[in-house]
Amino acid sequence: MSRLSLHLASGNPHKVQELQTLSDTSGLSVEIVRAVAMPKVDEDTGTFGGNARKKAVALQSVLPAGEWVLADDSGVCVDALGGAPGVESAYYAGPQGDPAANLRKLAEEMRDVPAGRRGASFYCVLALRGPDGGEKIFEGRCPGVLCVEPAGGGGFGYDPLFVPDGFAQSYAQIGEAEKNRISHRARAWAQLAAWLRARGLV
Ligand code: IMP
Repeated sequence: MSRLSLHLASGNPHKVQELQTLSDTSGLSVEIVRAVAMPKVDEDTGTFGGNARKKAVALQSVLPAGEWVLADDSGVCVDALGGAPGVESAYYAGPQGDPAANLRKLAEEMRDVPAGRRGASFYCVLALRGPDGGEKIFEGRCPGVLCVEPAGGGGFGYDPLFVPDGFAQSYAQIGEAEKNRISHRARAWAQLAAWLRARGLV
């Protein structure tokens, strides 16, 4: 069977790499293709699913007919902040979308919140569009808590601040293999992989 190319509606190289690793680890014959000309999309639907769908539609509209498209919308929802930054995770500290500034802002907002009220969950919604325009949505959640000081140099985005349930270290410390076993993205990917397999597409 030939390799299935999924064009990823994202300019974020970390997402391309994580999704490719997830695919390879799950033994799928899939290539995650980074979008070279991702159209600008206003992520204004207010939901991860709505934003993911919008990005997938936008990318498919500029690709030749017959291509598969995948979009990932994700972020961290913090209980003590009423679910913020949530769908605004990428732009929490401003429209420039600076990951280091976003991380600093979240650490500051949470500095005085006591242990026991530091619960948070990462969410990932994957929107898959087939060549016929058919659409399928897969969701993953990883619960945990926010630590006080960012810890660890691995991963990306808010990884240094997030300690998944069952772990004593942050997403940025537990290593790529462990993150890819339990993460919000891994959980969404597992469903997508099962869906592709069940249809004999991979
Ligand atoms: P999106 O590109 O609009 O989906 O923005 C997602 C934002 O959420 C990113 O900019 C990151 O800040 C954050 N995010 C999503 N997934 C992860 C992750 O696995 N680790 C850390 N931060 C993440």
